[in-house]
Amino acid sequence: MVVILLGPPGVGKGTQGVLLAEAIGARHVATGDLLRVARREGTELGRKAQGFMDRGELVPDQLIVDLVREVVGPLDAAQGVVFDGFPRTVPQAEALGGVLTDVRRKVDLVLALEADDDVLVQRLSGRRSCPQCGSVYNVHFTPPRSEGVCDRCGAALVHRSDDDPATVRRRLEVYREETAPLIRFYERSQAPVRRIDADRPVDEVQKSIREAAGA
Ligand code: AP5
Repeated sequence: MVVILLGPPGVGKGTQGVLLAEAIGARHVATGDLLRVARREGTELGRKAQGFMDRGELVPDQLIVDLVREVVGPLDAAQGVVFDGFPRTVPQAEALGGVLTDVRRKVDLVLALEADDDVLVQRLSGRRSCPQCGSVYNVHFTPPRSEGVCDRCGAALVHRSDDDPATVRRRLEVYREETAPLIRFYERSQAPVRRIDADRPVDEVQKSIREAAGA
């Protein structure tokens, strides 16, 4: 299956994407994670993306499309992919459509995760991430066993620099302006779109997602 997880910052795309990919044996491709790795490694892409990410703006489409092409490579018929945070604009969605058409595939399911802004702001203010293994925690809902330390690998947890209140406000605006229209884009292109209430405990949201995916 090719599944797209759409939704505003903090709605749980990463949390749910990892679980869904594991359940259906698919690759989890999160462009935000790939960009953060590029920044940490100081690659040319990381340097180009840095300013956009710190301001809560989108990284230019061509950089993202090239990155996804490079990471995903040629898709064979059996390879399942869960895209998280990609596509985020109509040109990105069109580019993905072209790549899939070339290998006679299509988007099988679009999951639009939804929650109110106050929920998103609270989740992002409490998020702590492990820069080493990528585990995600939340000081309000899912704290690590020992404060500030990753349960899985013992590294010091960080608060993402784009989770400060002003940048979160900008990310929410950008989502509404540039990414939310993709829900209509996919409805018009007849890809199945399922809206998921993401303001529920993680396992309940995952259950709805798996039902939608037939997993
Ligand atoms: P990206 O990393 O994709 O950020 P985002 O879309 O803003 O999403 P987040 O990672 O903030 O949230 P999430 O929905 O994954 O939630 P999570 O599961 O972590 O992108 C960052 C930047 O990179 C962008 O601003 C842009 O600059 C650039 N970029 C990336 N992709 C791009 C693209 N395609 N084009 C252009 N630019 C791009 O959960 C959040 C918190 O809530 C966590 O603490 C978690 O533990 C908690 N939580 C999750 N679910 C629940 C629940 N059900 N109940 C309680 N807590 C929960």
